[in-house]
Parts: sequence; structure tokens; C-alpha cells
Amino acid sequence: TAILVLHGPNLNLLGRREPEIYGTATLDEINASLARFAANAGVELSCFQSNAEHELVERIQRAAEDGTDWILINPAAFTHTSVAIRDALAAVDLPFIEIHLSNPERREAFRQHSYFSDLAVGKICGFGADSYLLALQAVVNRIDTTG
Ligand code: DQA
Repeated sequence: TAILVLHGPNLNLLGRREPEIYGTATLDEINASLARFAANAGVELSCFQSNAEHELVERIQRAAEDGTDWILINPAAFTHTSVAIRDALAAVDLPFIEIHLSNPERREAFRQHSYFSDLAVGKICGFGADSYLLALQAVVNRIDTTG
């Protein structure tokens, strides 16, 4: 099973970006803990971060051809703006989990709408870096039960 983790804009700044909201773990640390978890679970994992909408769209399009089975995505600010990334996920028709470090529903009004939630298998938010690990655990559980 191959899992692709996608990180949207400004997540390259994790660790020093509004740590009271997003925590102190850096993106490299989050990716490293996901990689450890994946290795233990015997699944393949790759991570990709971009600040550019078109690069995320292109990476999702490639996922249809590179053997990706699941996508874990934190679209970051694109959560609230990007029809293009939503359409890419719909086009490749791969199951995905929407992830947020913070809980957007506790925050500003403009964060209340997501272009992704109604297409996602599920959504995990509000647990900081653990949101990613919980999502990965959910995928691993689904592999175990579906074979
Ligand atoms: C975020 C929440 C978004 O509203 C915000 O734009 C982000 C990060 C989160 O992980 O909590 O950049 O996706």
C-alpha cells in the first residue's frame, strides 16, 4: 500500500509559524514521525509540500499513475479557496483524508468552509502533529480490514 502525504502552503514554516496555533514540530519532524510509523506498519509513504496550487494539482494528477492508494492531505489555506485541488482529487478518485493541525471550526469565519470535506473519507483536525499520525493509523486499519 502506497500513501501520499500532501502539505499545502506555509506548512514549510511549521515550528516557527504561529506555534500557539500550529505547535512547535517542524514539517521535517512530522514527516520523519510519519515515515517511522509507516515503516513499522509496512506501508510505503511519500511526502510532498508546496506553496503553489498548480504543483499540488500536478502531484495529485501523478498519483493516479504512480501506484498511490491513499492520499493524506492538509490543504492549509487552499482548504478554503481551491476548487482546482478539489477537482484534482475528484478526478483521480483516490480515497483521501483531510487533515488540519488546528481545528478550523474553532477559528475565523472564513475557515468554516472546506472545499474538501464532502469528498473526504474522513477528516482529522485539532490535534496538532498527531492529526497526521491519527490519519495514517486510520489508513493502516483500513488496509488490515480490507486486505
Ligand atoms: C490549517 C488550517 C487552515 O485554515 C490554515 O490556512 C492553515 C493550516 C491547519 O492545519 O490547521 O494553513 O490547514
